[in-house]
Order: sequence, then C-alpha cells, then structure tokens
Amino acid sequence: MHTHRFLITGGQKLQGQVRVSGSKNAALPIIAASLLSEEPVILKNVPDIADIYTMQHILHFLGVETEFANNTLKVHAKAVANLEIEHELVSKLRASILLLAPMLVRNKEVRLAFPGGCIIGKRPVEAHLSALEALGAEIVEDHEILHLICKDLKGADLTMTEASVTATENAVMAAVLAKGKTTIRFAAAEPHVQDLCNFLNAIGAKIKGVGTHTLEITGVKKLKGGEYRITSDYLEAGTLVLASAITRGEVDVLDIVPHHLDIFWQKLREVGVVFELGKDMVRVQPSKHLKAIRLQTAIYPSFPTDLQAPFSTLLTQAKGISFIFETLFEGRLQYLYELEKMGVRPKILNAYQAEIEGPVCLQGASVNSCDLRAGAAIMLAGLAAEGQTEISDIYYIDRGYEKLDEKLNSLGAKIERIK
Ligand code: EPU
Repeated sequence: MHTHRFLITGGQKLQGQVRVSGSKNAALPIIAASLLSEEPVILKNVPDIADIYTMQHILHFLGVETEFANNTLKVHAKAVANLEIEHELVSKLRASILLLAPMLVRNKEVRLAFPGGCIIGKRPVEAHLSALEALGAEIVEDHEILHLICKDLKGADLTMTEASVTATENAVMAAVLAKGKTTIRFAAAEPHVQDLCNFLNAIGAKIKGVGTHTLEITGVKKLKGGEYRITSDYLEAGTLVLASAITRGEVDVLDIVPHHLDIFWQKLREVGVVFELGKDMVRVQPSKHLKAIRLQTAIYPSFPTDLQAPFSTLLTQAKGISFIFETLFEGRLQYLYELEKMGVRPKILNAYQAEIEGPVCLQGASVNSCDLRAGAAIMLAGLAAEGQTEISDIYYIDRGYEKLDEKLNSLGAKIERIK
C-alpha cells in the first residue's frame, strides 16, 4: 500500500481516443489456471496493475517461474510447491482464492488463509467449497485456514449454491482435469468467466456452454502450454465511456467487445447519453439532457455490480430522482457518503438501495477511495466537479485500473498524482 493521492481539477471536457487494457478479472483466474499445466503459458494483454504483481509474487512463493514485461506474462509451473499461503499474502488479494482448485489439482492438497481484498461485504467461501466437495475434495476442519485434500477428482453434476464468479472459476479449474464428465449448473457467465474457459479450451480442455449458466466439461488427462490474449476489460471500458459522458466530452473508446456491455448500453440510452457502437469501439458524443432512471445490478448478462458506482455518479447529472438497487454486495453504496462531500444529497434507504436527485452541481472536495470501483466513481465525480478534488487511498484504484490517470489525462483531464 502507498499513500499516493490524486488531485483532479474538474471541468475539462474529455476528447480523443483511448484504448482499453486487458481485463483484471480475466487475467487473475487465467494466471491461476496456468498452474494446471506443466508447460509454459504466455499471456498477452495482461494489465500492468498491482493485483497482477501480487499474484505473481504468490506464484514465486510457490516456486513457479514467471516473467512479466510489456503486458506479457510468462508462467511456467513445472512444479507447484505444496506450501501454505499465509494471511499476509492472501490479505492483499481476495482473488488468491482462485489458487484453491489449481493447487488442489497439482498437489492433492491446498492450504490457504481466508481471503481479504476490497472491503465490500462479507463474501462467503461456501460456494467454492461445496463445488470442490462435489468433485471429490475433502475439507479438513480448521478455523484458521482453508485446508482441502483429495484423492482423484471425479466429474459430477453440480449446482452452484450461488452464481459466484470466482467459485465458478474454481469449479471449472477443478473439473477440466477431473475424471469423467462434469456439469456445472447456475454457473456465473461474466465475460471473465468466459475468457477463463476459452483459455482452458485453447490449452486442451473440453468445456462446452461457454457464456451460458450451464457448463459441460469432459475431463482430460493433461493440459498443454500455449499463448493466449486476455480479453479487454469491459469494466474499464464502461468507466471510460462514463468519463466521457459525465464531462459532456467526445471520446472514442477502442478495443472493446460491445456485446459484453449490452445492458450497460441500454441503460446509457435510457439516461440519454448519445453514442455509436462499432465492431470493437464506441464513440461517445456530448449529450445535452440526461434523465433519471432505475438502476439494478445482478449477475451477468444483467447490469454489473462493478459498474454500479461509476454509473450512479453519472446519474448525479441526470434530471429527476434515480433509484439504485445493488443486489449483490451490501457494502457497495459507501461511495455515496464520499459524493455527499461533493454536494450530492443521496437518500440511502438501506445497505442495498438509494435514491439520488439530480442534476447536482458537483463541488471539488477531499474524498476517499473506499474500494476499487468506488474509487473510479469518485474520479468521475472529480472530473465533472467545479474546483479541485483530492482523492486519498488511491492504491485501490491502482490495484485494478491500468494507468487510469494517464489515460484520462491523454483525453484532456487534469489529474495529478501526488506522492
Ligand atoms: N451474490 C449473490 N447472488 C448471486 C451471486 C452473488 O448474492 O447470484 C453475492 C455473493 O454472496 C457475494 C457477492 O455477491 O457476497 C459476490 O459474488 P461473487 O462470489 O461472484 O464475487 P467474487 O467471485 O468474489 C468477482 C469479482 C469481483 C466482482 C464480483 C461480482 C474477481 C476476481 N472478482 O468476485 O470483482 O465484484 O465477482 O461480479 O473476478 C472488482 O473487480 O472490483 C471486484 C470486486
């Protein structure tokens, strides 16, 4: 963690072209899945962000060779040491839970401290454990750590206890090398889950139903090595589009997969944002009248929880009362308390629901980045605000967005990083 802050001078209309980076939430499970192969894996378009370095650090601890330069990460897991991954490492990266399945597959045992990460709700691990149990893992009773052992993993017909993203990813990673056939019902289908499946198929796995909530997997004996390009980050794409919209700018956001954001585009149109979709880009135009809407998050393909905070920040500029319903996490309305310091008067109904009346004339203030997506939301508010906004705890933003400040500055924003 570092103590850098952002100083944003608001009121600049963004203009120009910007390219979206590779997806953090796809790269992390794919790096974990690289441990399933004994051969070298080369991953391209890996975002250069703190979370990837933390994952790389954990891989080194496990004796896995890695090399990361120019957004290319090489992973060669000739062997994976059967070591306990301690709290100090895990607490930096909630996604280290993605190592459960690959370590179990490689060593028939895994010991991992309970995960940490962003503070956005309780985030249970039951969904992970019950899926792995269905495939033959045995949970060793321990209150301090997650400890699993297995003999041979066997295919099964299992239903996820919830459509959890990382739990689905663990189930998939365990099933690809299990004996026989696995059906995973109520699987999460987010673009990053799809990307993990596409990667595994590229190195020899047999997964069908990618992109749907039912995955059918035929176990194989071995996975090969190979080269794979991580999909672009639809969450960053959405954030950049919102940055353009909130400043009434005119920005082309490049290297996107428009289909990943279907509901986002619908909601954006409903608000009144003018844009044009291309094959792999979107052109956002200055929009005059924005109107309030109802925004409700849910699992993919519905509206992503990770874009709720940034989108709601745009809603502060829309006329009328917008209603926000965050159905997944109970801690994801915290940013509203920060926006309050900037002049928004949100009505927080409970941990999941809030109302925002707009349009609000945002005022620069000293605010905190409570989590990764909240941090992005507050940056957007700073871009649109009168005067200067100082954001503390920006390591949350650096964890998940590649050079977001530099990208926005290249479009005309005035963001200074203060050390
Ligand atoms: N949940 C429900 N109902 C559902 C699905 C989930 O209530 O149908 C609840 C769960 O109980 C849990 C929460 O929603 O409390 C999160 O669900 P999930 O288990 O899917 O979260 P995750 O796998 O831990 C991943 C992303 C998160 C993202 C969530 C939701 C990675 C590494 N992390 O977490 O990303 O918010 O899915 O899409 O992929 C981020 O990037 O900022 C981030 C936190």
